[in-house]
Order: sequence, then C-alpha cells, then structure tokens
Amino acid sequence: MRVDVLTILPGFFESPLRFGMIRSAIEKKKLKVGIHDLRSYSQDRIVDDYPYGGGAGMVLKAEPVLAAVEDLKKRNTTTLLFTPGGRTLDQRLLAGLSQKKHLLLICGRYKAIDQRVKEFIDPVLVSIGDYVLSGGEIGALILIDGVARLLPGVLRDPDSARTDSFSSRILDCPYYTRPRVVRRRSVPRVLLSGNHRAIQRWRKKASLKTTIEKRPDLLKKKSFNREEVSIILEVLHERGRLQSWRYDNRLFQDD
Ligand code: 6GU
Repeated sequence: MRVDVLTILPGFFESPLRFGMIRSAIEKKKLKVGIHDLRSYSQDRIVDDYPYGGGAGMVLKAEPVLAAVEDLKKRNTTTLLFTPGGRTLDQRLLAGLSQKKHLLLICGRYKAIDQRVKEFIDPVLVSIGDYVLSGGEIGALILIDGVARLLPGVLRDPDSARTDSFSSRILDCPYYTRPRVVRRRSVPRVLLSGNHRAIQRWRKKASLKTTIEKRPDLLKKKSFNREEVSIILEVLHERGRLQSWRYDNRLFQDD
C-alpha cells in the first residue's frame, strides 16, 4: 500500500513513522508513506485566508489543495479529508481502507477548509472522535497506524488482529503472561488447563462480560449466535441484573 499525506506540518510525521509497527511495515515493504508540504503547492507559500462573511478563524485555501491532489492522485486513489465533521473512524473503516492500493490523506488545519475542495474532490471525510483538535495530522497518523497493522505480512501472527477489541465488534478479553503468580495473584486456572475448548469459551465469556460492563453500546449494534446469547444470559444472571438490563437495552425483541 502507498499512503501520501498532504499537510502544512510535514515535520509532524518524522518521528511517528520511525518507530514500532509503522516502521516495521515500511521496512518490510508492505507500506510506503510520502509526506507532502501543502505550501509547496502555493506560489507564495500562503495556504490560508480570511473567511468570506467574516468571523473568527482562518480558512484553508482551495487552490493549493486542488493542485496537490491533482499532482498526487493516481488511477486507484482513495482520498480522505480529516475533519471533525467526518465519519468517525472505526475498525470497520480501517479494515476497508487496508484493502486499498493508494490512500491520499488531506490534513485540515485552521478553522475550516474551503468548501469547494470537498465539492471538487469528494473525499471521504474522516473524524477520529467527538472532540476538536487543531488539525488532521494526528488523525492521519492514527489511520496510518491502524491500517499498517492490518496489511498482510505486517503482524507476526494475523490471528492477533482477528481477536483484537472491535474486530469482532466487541472488546477483547483479559490476557496474562508469565509468571503464573504475581504478588500472590494467580492466572485464571482455565488458561493453564490446556483445554482449548474451555479456554475459548472462557475468553468469549470474558470478552462479552467486559463489553457488557464497559461498552454496552457496542452490543446493541451486533447480532449474536446461540452460544453467545447463552453466555450473555449467564453473565447477566451472575450479575443479578437480568431484568433491568433487558428492559434498558431491549436486546431480545422477540421475547
Ligand atoms: Cl480528523 N481533525 C480535527 N481538526 N479535529 C478532529 C478530528 C480531525 N477528529 C476529531 N476532531
């Protein structure tokens, strides 16, 4: 995959690309990242101006962005614009983007970007959450990291991504490593049993339990198979909150 980034802060990307999974993806030649200074697409290096109609804040000019996109775009490019008004980035969007050949990431800055950029380029508008940042650069880095680890051949064990939190739309279960006892607290016995079916069921239950406790909103968007429904009921019975939870969430609409 190739990712090109358009930004007024090219230096922002220097160190994040040199460490960890992103570096490893680049070294393994699964990923190429190009950073491009938006100012180099402006004759006078000015890329912002006052908003028509007045008001606070500056607006990113259309022409430098359009010129840059024309220069960097290829036949198979998916263009994304980072802006708080975009679709919130989630694992599903990352998984879709990880299948693409070429991503062009436009980092917004200032108050806004000239609306005509969106009209001419029709990029995918991406936000990284419901809060305001001073620019799209951090979002672009988040996307590059999230996509890099999904590229075939980047993770040592692709199974690791399959079990991640959110990849099956629920949170992942707790994990333990050596030693077996830490400050008198032992690892759950089942994980030492060698019984793979029992371990799988324990993990599924722990995942569902964590999700019910920490992110019940995720459960409403997902459908469950028979085993999962029975585990959920088991968790709720253990918590002794079946009635009120059922009522609150209206999960089981046919009973
Ligand atoms: Cl992608 N950009 C900015 N400036 N603010 C944000 C964002 C992006 N996502 C959430 N807030």
